[in-house]
Amino acid sequence: MPSYLITGASRGIGLEFTRQLSSKVDNQVFALIRNKGTASELVELSSHTPNVRILQADVVDYKALKTAAAEVANVTGGTLDYLINNAAYIDRERQGLTLDGYPEGQEALLGDDIHKSIQVNVIGVIHTINAFLPLVSKSSIKKVITISSGVADPEYTLAAGFATAAPYSISKAALNLAIVKYAAKYQEEGIVFLSISPGIVNTAQKPPTPEEVEGFKKIVAMLKKAAPHWDGQPLTPEQSVKMVLDVVNSVTIKDSGAFVSHFGDKQWL
Ligand SMILES: NC(=O)c1ccc[n+]([C@@H]2O[C@H](COP(=O)([O-])OP(=O)(O)OC[C@H]3O[C@@H](n4cnc5c(N)ncnc54)[C@H](OP(=O)(O)O)[C@@H]3O)[C@@H](O)[C@H]2O)c1
Repeated sequence: MPSYLITGASRGIGLEFTRQLSSKVDNQVFALIRNKGTASELVELSSHTPNVRILQADVVDYKALKTAAAEVANVTGGTLDYLINNAAYIDRERQGLTLDGYPEGQEALLGDDIHKSIQVNVIGVIHTINAFLPLVSKSSIKKVITISSGVADPEYTLAAGFATAAPYSISKAALNLAIVKYAAKYQEEGIVFLSISPGIVNTAQKPPTPEEVEGFKKIVAMLKKAAPHWDGQPLTPEQSVKMVLDVVNSVTIKDSGAFVSHFGDKQWL
């Protein structure tokens, strides 16, 4: 019975991982979220899907993560086959600003945005890995999958001239190196660490405002500079998660430490 733990399972890509993985009755799926009160779709799914268990922890709260790991261990007998680090802080308010584009006098806000992104997207993932690693190391599958983003790729960033969304991009680039550090340490133990970008995925919970549509058009225009073949259409969570899971199933220890796309290579779109 393969076991999976997915962080950020309340909505978006994390909820879709939970849906697709729990559709196989043999899988045991642990959905880690911050707040049941704002995860109605997941709560509904778990009410008629016995192989889904909801656990609560903020990824910046190491103690809560350890408690969640103990709960998983109780159910599985001490192991976890797949850890999927999906939760992330995505600043949608100021993602159109460049590092030098914050209004005069708002330098503190720039610092706060960078701190928050690093806190959740880097330190939060490291805490999550540290809390669950003792369980993963007892598995025979041993896969730690971390959802990153193509915007963390320096070559792609330069080719697209993508100077905005800097705190988020910086945090994902730092995250990729953190994953490489784990891969370097655990190569011999056979634990596979992978950073993977899910593509551009529509996870909006409500229809976009006209300003958001304009903002997205600008981003598409930039991203297409480095990916002219791309039709500019975001993937659905269903499409993205299916592709990511195909890659997850195919990676082996020789791929540990890699940073790839949902195509399994460096094609980000
Ligand atoms: N969507 C895309 O186009 C895209 C592109 C590239 C990469 N990604 C990556 O794919 C992953 C999922 O993206 P998404 O679009 O599905 O994001 P999303 O819809 O914004 O969902 C983010 C998830 O992370 C959770 N989360 C945020 N901060 C947390 C914390 N401190 N502790 C625990 N959980 C926390 C949220 O929980 P709450 O519900 O409690 O807020 C939510 O479940 C992220 O790693 C993102 O960076 C997405």
